[in-house]
Amino acid sequence: MDPNETVLVGCIGGSGLYHLDNLTVVKKIHVNTPWGEPSSPITISSLPSGALIAFISRHGPHHTITPSEVPNRANIAALKSIGVQAIVAFSAVGSLREEIAPGDFIIPDQVIDRTKSLREDTFFRNEGVVVHSMFGDPFSNKLNAFVAPRVQKILEEQHDGPVKLHTGKTVICMEGPAFSTRAESLMYRQFGGDIINMSVVPESKLARECEIDYTLICTSTDYDAWRVGHAPVTVEEVVKTLHTNAGNARAVAAGLLQDVHDVVAEGKVLDEIKGCMRFACVTRS
Ligand code: ADE
Repeated sequence: MDPNETVLVGCIGGSGLYHLDNLTVVKKIHVNTPWGEPSSPITISSLPSGALIAFISRHGPHHTITPSEVPNRANIAALKSIGVQAIVAFSAVGSLREEIAPGDFIIPDQVIDRTKSLREDTFFRNEGVVVHSMFGDPFSNKLNAFVAPRVQKILEEQHDGPVKLHTGKTVICMEGPAFSTRAESLMYRQFGGDIINMSVVPESKLARECEIDYTLICTSTDYDAWRVGHAPVTVEEVVKTLHTNAGNARAVAAGLLQDVHDVVAEGKVLDEIKGCMRFACVTRS
């Protein structure tokens, strides 16, 4: 990348969201990192103002990468290497609450990690240093607060009718690839989970280690397996909702990314994550 072309905002698309709309594709770049290649080439697109946005498709352009196999370190390192300071990520999720219906959008503020240590979740393992990042607030509170009213407004204006947005929710991240059992789904509700996916960990942890502001915009596809008297979730059910959700997610991205770019470019507003790793290393020389 030409250093004059720094890209401040990255977007990671999840299931169903393999590209963005209403942006002009400038180029596709292949970035190799010390942690391998990202899930997809990075598509650099320009907004009408000329601001650049970087897009990665988490599961690959043709959805060939399972949640356990996503090269998260390469994805985050590649975005960092081109200057990205804020990531707006999208994810399809199951709902653990009656009031979060399929088709609804959710911006969570907490995570419960139920993955199984199969995933590389730090840049600092076997590096001869001991590093503990601060992760009590796994998303950027400031970026969440910035995007929520904007997403709400965009969703209210969707031509097929308003779409509901929920904020302040907890996302459970499970390993998969099989969906949860009914007993697990009920347990996750008791844990305090509101929605469930297979992707937010370690993507959010690695963004934190890179001091990148990270927000997750979730689209609900199903009611998972907890509802008595209803069939548990299947891929068929997820895919049915995915298409409508992806259209709405693209509208959200198209309406949101200029504002996110502008607030990051200001450099003053999203000041909570920058520098957070400064004292994270315990190792002393
Ligand atoms: N992604 C979409 N629906 C899901 C579910 N029910 N469980 C885990 N991940 C999901």
